[in-house]
Amino acid sequence: MDSKYLLTKNSEIGFNSTNFAAKRKAETVNLDMHVKNKFNYTLSTSRNIPPASKRNCIGQQSKSLPVFNCRQRILKEIEMNDTVLIMSETGSGKTTQIPQFLLHAGYAKSSMICITQPRRVAAITVARRVAQELSSSIGEIVGYTVRFEDVTTKNTKIRYLTDGVLLRESIEDRLLLKYSVIILDEAHERTVNADLLFGIVKEAQKERSRKNIPNLKVVITSATMDIDHFGKYFKCKGLYLEGRTHPVRVMHAKEPHDDYVHAILVTLFHIHRTEPINHDVLIFLTGQDEIESLAQQIRKLAKINTNGPTNIRVYTLYAQLSHSMQLECFLPGPSNMRKVVLATNIAETSITIPGIRCVIDCGFVKEKFFNSVDGIDILKAVRISRAQAWQRTGRAGRDAPGVCYRTYTKSEMDSFLSSTQPEILRANPTSTVLQLLAMDIDCNNFDFLDAPLDEALISAYRSLDGLGAIEYGPISHITPLGRLMSQYPLDPKYSKLLTSASKFGCMEEILRLVSVLSSDNIFVSSNDKNELATLAHAKFHSKHGDHLTLLNVYNLFIKAEKPKVWCHDNFLNYRCLIYARNVCRQLSEISLRLGLTINSSENIESFKKCLLSGFFENVAILQKDGSYLTCSGNLKAKMHPSSVFHLKYKPKCILFTQMVQTDSNFLRQVTDVFIDWAKEVVPCLKNGIK
Ligand code: CDP
Ligand code: MG
Repeated sequence: MDSKYLLTKNSEIGFNSTNFAAKRKAETVNLDMHVKNKFNYTLSTSRNIPPASKRNCIGQQSKSLPVFNCRQRILKEIEMNDTVLIMSETGSGKTTQIPQFLLHAGYAKSSMICITQPRRVAAITVARRVAQELSSSIGEIVGYTVRFEDVTTKNTKIRYLTDGVLLRESIEDRLLLKYSVIILDEAHERTVNADLLFGIVKEAQKERSRKNIPNLKVVITSATMDIDHFGKYFKCKGLYLEGRTHPVRVMHAKEPHDDYVHAILVTLFHIHRTEPINHDVLIFLTGQDEIESLAQQIRKLAKINTNGPTNIRVYTLYAQLSHSMQLECFLPGPSNMRKVVLATNIAETSITIPGIRCVIDCGFVKEKFFNSVDGIDILKAVRISRAQAWQRTGRAGRDAPGVCYRTYTKSEMDSFLSSTQPEILRANPTSTVLQLLAMDIDCNNFDFLDAPLDEALISAYRSLDGLGAIEYGPISHITPLGRLMSQYPLDPKYSKLLTSASKFGCMEEILRLVSVLSSDNIFVSSNDKNELATLAHAKFHSKHGDHLTLLNVYNLFIKAEKPKVWCHDNFLNYRCLIYARNVCRQLSEISLRLGLTINSSENIESFKKCLLSGFFENVAILQKDGSYLTCSGNLKAKMHPSSVFHLKYKPKCILFTQMVQTDSNFLRQVTDVFIDWAKEVVPCLKNGIK
């Protein structure tokens, strides 16, 4: 790598780029070898597969995928057994081909075949691809259903959906009668929803056979699942499919590196100088703010590097973008430009972004952890697992041989967990408990693959009791309010806000607020124009705190004549606000369907009391040293720099909707409240908050 490389011109990124260059020579591990060692695959078929450029049509392309050779074996196993576990390498055709084998074998004659995905962007793009392979328009033979969007018709035979959507369907239909086969894909992700579905499909199979209803076939697929653990749970054998597609060369940093953002920039521009322009790059980062800030830096550096129009096009991909914006990076870009996609772990499994030949992996992921003493979720960046690292690597070898740069060393990677900790063991189980109770299942009697910890469950039951969603006791029951709350695809704290807002007279305001909160950060910071951005944002500030500030932004956004220009002038993220507007429309529809009144009021006290009715556990008291202590007295935290209260007047008692952990705990999205209100709005807290 060239040490004169233009990065050093920028004082912000002024580090010695040769350091990383030396490190990058590091070790080369071949994915073939890794997979061979780990899963006992053979390499034989890889040589027989023609490179993508030589394949002339999609049909031929799918016939050359490794699973195609195993078609008969897969069908036979499914015919002979009700549950089958299938493991094969990333890119071998599990997600796109297995449903088609089943379709052609007649499994969709009277009911559908469905395939779950952990994320909506995967469900949409894979469904489109399969529709194209079957020369059908999307929504006809092949369709998809994701939160807030259903693209299926009565002709649909293969349906891709998110695990959350299937879980919601199972509340209404425990036997899942719409389906003849359910494929639970990417099982290694172990999302809470997927874990619940494992138990639900098992139960549906039993019930269907008891009632003499045609069998439900269940297929569990992944590239990296713990086949022994799954095998014991489902009482079935695993099927290993041999064969791989394209090799991926893996580069590790030679020494540990503190600042992966720098490492990524250096690596990216090295690739840009040395690799053909049609080799696109996918970069894994942890979250929206990091992605937006790196996107700005790359655009700026790309301009400095070329003495003319830039030849890098940067795309971003994270959960809080609207669907259409998430899908932009899947479209072919101009031929004389390099596509650079900055993504969170939502690009980690299932998806194929055309043209990606290089992956750069930061090695971290942002996750929520649950503190069962306080009942609070904490968001923090943690190391990925080795399984995740290999999934990320796999994104580079989808249409052709690729390369993956890891900004961490081989020995650092050896210390990563081998597979991702199941979400159910670290996340807040409140939503899970409520969803199960809405199906009249008590968590204590549910057949979990891995059961949540007892203390987390007790805390969840208490929290739901406080929200009025359940009556807690030796046998807990869901209340009518809890049933209403379970209809929203939201964390129960947020669904409580929506179900109580009409009573406080501020439904419209709460709908808007919840929508903006679901889109994460709408404020854009700018390295060059920081003062201007701060001034622009100050116009929206409310002395009551961040929630009313966010509401001010949203109210003006929907009134703006030219919203895009208005956002640009005010340093606001247009894409996130559009997402919020869509969410708001959907949540309003659900609320109307549930018979709730959409009223509006300017009474700030009522608005704050409504906030407290959902977030009474997220209250903190000012300490002498200027920090805050959460009401249970367990967690100490500081005001987040993005809050309107940062560096200013600090209220005695606050409510927050997010806690973020970096070197300390930070409270984000804060409003000042009176602690005495708690007794009034949360009846079970007769003596106030602890
Ligand atoms: O699920 P698995 O990782 O085994 O593979 P898949 O998602 O079924 O994809 C198999 C192959 O189809 C990929 O390696 C790509 O070459 C191709 N594909 C694509 O080009 N575009 C898509 N949207 C999906 C798949
Ligand atoms: Mg897949």
